[in-house]
Amino acid sequence: VEWTDKERSIISDIFSHLDYEDIGPKALSRCLIVYPWTQRHFSGFGNLYNAESIIGNANVAAHGIKVLHGLDRGLKNMDNIEATYADLSTLHSEKLHVDPDNFKLLADCITIVLAAKMGQAFTAEIQGAFQKFLAVVVSALGKQYH
Ligand code: HEM
Repeated sequence: VEWTDKERSIISDIFSHLDYEDIGPKALSRCLIVYPWTQRHFSGFGNLYNAESIIGNANVAAHGIKVLHGLDRGLKNMDNIEATYADLSTLHSEKLHVDPDNFKLLADCITIVLAAKMGQAFTAEIQGAFQKFLAVVVSALGKQYH
């Protein structure tokens, strides 16, 4: 994957301002509400009975933050994203049995929550760079599936 200087600066700028404690929980809870089949992987997290309980679930919030921090390693290894995610790909495939289609759904939720937070500042150019970054991570996460 090739990155322009502009894309690199947009992406590092987004992450330097990213409020992990806000965006992470909102993105994961949104994924669980909008795509309810994703809930099956989180049966150990307690009450996911309805939207309100998902949003108020502390385990969901904590895991949302963890997932968002999972993107840091891509940010720090932008020229080697595939190898960077090999372990996480194996974990999600062989141990967690997460359908790789779901990575894209969670990535879209992260984009939507970030867009809502940034408002007008979330320009098409910023969206383009951010979605490209997430698409490369999503592809890398799907690499150890066979
Ligand atoms: C665990 C990242 C998508 C289900 C994790 C962990 C990270 C992570 C960093 C912790 C691994 C560890 O403890 O070593 C990501 C990223 C994703 C993604 C970056 C995509 C953007 C998904 C999706 C699902 C999922 C879509 C399910 C629908 C899980 C589960 C765990 C986990 C069930 C273990 C949770 C636990 O019991 O602690 N993920 N993940 N992940 N992920 Fe993902």
